[in-house]
Amino acid sequence: MAAISVEPCTFALFGALGDLALRKLFPALYQLDRANLLHADTRLLALAREPGSAQEHLSTIETHLRRHVAPADLEPAALGRFLGRLSYQHLDFLQPEGYQALAEQVAGELPLIAYFATAAAVYGAICENLDKAGLAARTRVVLEKPIGHDLESSRRVNDAVARFFPESRVYRIDHYLGKETVQNLIALRFANSLFETQWNQNSISHVEITVAEKVGIEGRWGYFDKAGQLRDMIQNHLLQLLCLIAMDPPSDLSADSIRDEKVKVLKALAPITGDGLSTRVVRGQYIAGYSDGKAVPGYLEEDNANAQSDTETFVALRADIRNWRWSGVPFYLRTGKRMPQKLSQIVIHFKETPHYIFAPEQRLQIGNKLIIRLQPDEGISLRVMTKEQGLDKGMQLRSGPLQLNFSDTWRTARIPDAYERLLLEVMRGNQNLFVRKDEIEYAWQWCDQLIAGWRNAGDAPKPYAAGSWGPMSSIALITRDGRAWYGDI
Ligand code: BG6
Repeated sequence: MAAISVEPCTFALFGALGDLALRKLFPALYQLDRANLLHADTRLLALAREPGSAQEHLSTIETHLRRHVAPADLEPAALGRFLGRLSYQHLDFLQPEGYQALAEQVAGELPLIAYFATAAAVYGAICENLDKAGLAARTRVVLEKPIGHDLESSRRVNDAVARFFPESRVYRIDHYLGKETVQNLIALRFANSLFETQWNQNSISHVEITVAEKVGIEGRWGYFDKAGQLRDMIQNHLLQLLCLIAMDPPSDLSADSIRDEKVKVLKALAPITGDGLSTRVVRGQYIAGYSDGKAVPGYLEEDNANAQSDTETFVALRADIRNWRWSGVPFYLRTGKRMPQKLSQIVIHFKETPHYIFAPEQRLQIGNKLIIRLQPDEGISLRVMTKEQGLDKGMQLRSGPLQLNFSDTWRTARIPDAYERLLLEVMRGNQNLFVRKDEIEYAWQWCDQLIAGWRNAGDAPKPYAAGSWGPMSSIALITRDGRAWYGDI
């Protein structure tokens, strides 16, 4: 196997004292360093606007690193090397002056990676200031989500960035694309000839994508309430998963070949309007209930909540893709906060056999399912029908798994966090795990029509108890089509 080679760079993290940086980005950079995937000449610059001394902020970063990296992974030598690469600079992102000091810190001719872990409203100003400081030509910019809250605002952000950076140097993050199992969807679909011939409306009856979280809003009420679950999860993560399942085989693995295919899927999504707003989509909001046996408050009773909010914390919907491959194959998407467990999984339901020869009462069991577990217990399982063993059993059928559990089968010591992969790919200049501008725009366009429909209908979210799988109507959404959510207990 070829070892991955990574060029040296200067990595500048804007918003270095924010939650994302402290919880995810520094730990991910540390893990890359520990795995010898940072070039010896790579330097890390923490940039933030908070007052205080560099020493104080560097020690905050170190404290969080020790908290968020598994104790077994905290190796003194690796930690020492990592901290040795790191420096801190106070920077007011909106003021051009500080950028000269930044330019002086950026070593030689090395590429600069500018990671914006800040509000999208300042992306444009940062880009302009990087340009004024003469840094734009060698910079790749990494944009965190959310990029806007609808098509128009996302265009404004993207246009502001595009004034200084060509698309080939813009890396838009959807951290789901960095998850190992999500990348595995590409391998599963396109490195196995077995599936492709079955991957269409001839063989597949429907697809389910569930991304459930056990947590509630966790101190992010103000941010979350402006977004809601459709903008926060469906517009990006679930639609990306849908694209990876539904897209046609790309002609190669280049970023644009993959992204061209994903865009075709987004363009083919049928808008949900009119009657579809009541039959094909359900919004929910959690009320008080139980999580792991402990009483937990409802969304409107969380800290800093506005008790009048009608923001949704749950969405279930049926998406239809208007093309030859998927005509008549619904994609049921479901995502929510305060569900019974953290679970991200895709279930591909295959059609029944064309002619049924077994006892009628067993018929409901029939149907192969491919279950792709993204988290936890990453793995793939194909449910197949076999006969029960034993002289007394006759032709009694049962469904059992052909199972590939990644950590057991490959004895993987540690599954890397999505951000490790994404940061590595930015350093390698590889865009195929990043979202292109037109993907974001088509995704917003589809979500915007849905949000407008809700607004016009004055649709209020349906209550569901914390710790449940969502409002009853989300069950009706799928049973109406003669189906059920897979594995709900
Ligand atoms: C983020 C959302 O993008 O994804 C959060 O803003 C959500 O609301 C998170 O909790 C879920 O990510 P993961 O990797 O924990 O499934």
